[in-house]
Amino acid sequence: MHTDINDLFTGLWQDYLAITPSANKIHSLLKAHNQQAELVNDHIALRTFAIPGIAVNDIAKHFTVLGYVQSGEYDFSSKKLNAWHYQHPDPNQPKVFISELKVNELSTASQAIIHAMVDTMDFNVVKSAGFLYSGTHWQVSEADYRTLLCESEYAAWMAAWGFRANHFTVSVNHLNSLTELSAVNTLLKSSGFTLNTAGGEIKGNESVCLAQSSTMADMMPVQFSDNTVTLPSCFYEFAQRFPLPNGQLYQGFVAASADKIFESTNVN
Ligand code: NI
Repeated sequence: MHTDINDLFTGLWQDYLAITPSANKIHSLLKAHNQQAELVNDHIALRTFAIPGIAVNDIAKHFTVLGYVQSGEYDFSSKKLNAWHYQHPDPNQPKVFISELKVNELSTASQAIIHAMVDTMDFNVVKSAGFLYSGTHWQVSEADYRTLLCESEYAAWMAAWGFRANHFTVSVNHLNSLTELSAVNTLLKSSGFTLNTAGGEIKGNESVCLAQSSTMADMMPVQFSDNTVTLPSCFYEFAQRFPLPNGQLYQGFVAASADKIFESTNVN
């Protein structure tokens, strides 16, 4: 595991940019609108399967060894997901949102496909420094991918993309000229980027202390065991946080909003 937070996030960011070319363009666009000041990453999100050895508890060790602490817990029953967020005592470090698919709630057919994939993994690799941006550790056919897709978009995304940051998030609070999420959205749309409109372009609001929007994932080729198919990869998110009654900015997440953000990787 990494012993330096910056090394871990640099690895995650480089891997993410390689399969999310629009993120690089948006990063440059927002930086130009920020007088070239560096953007602040509010959080990243990671996905996994709730299977011992690669469950949230297992992969979160990459963050807890760096001082991160498990904070909020979130339930997405309709998507068969659990999630937790992790925070660092240094508020300038990004938060980490990690979800896991409750594989044992899927159909027998989907469970068999996922276990066949995961059974080929050497779990010792989970502790290696680059694991969180190592992608897939299995071969899967396009047919099996499509079987998973019929039942769980999340399962299909994991089968195709594996372990890597699903998104990075621009902290709108730290932008110096675009101070409202709606203004960021307007700029993105006028620059040709497609936003996720599931549940509305902006999920959440001041009353839940968090407003979020995101692009739709880029389309990138995935090599299956029998075929190459172009599929949604990763997306970019934008978050504006609002103060709690104590004056501190809310640092958690809002399950109803996150539920719709997951749909940024939906296959059309
Ligand atoms: Ni997010």
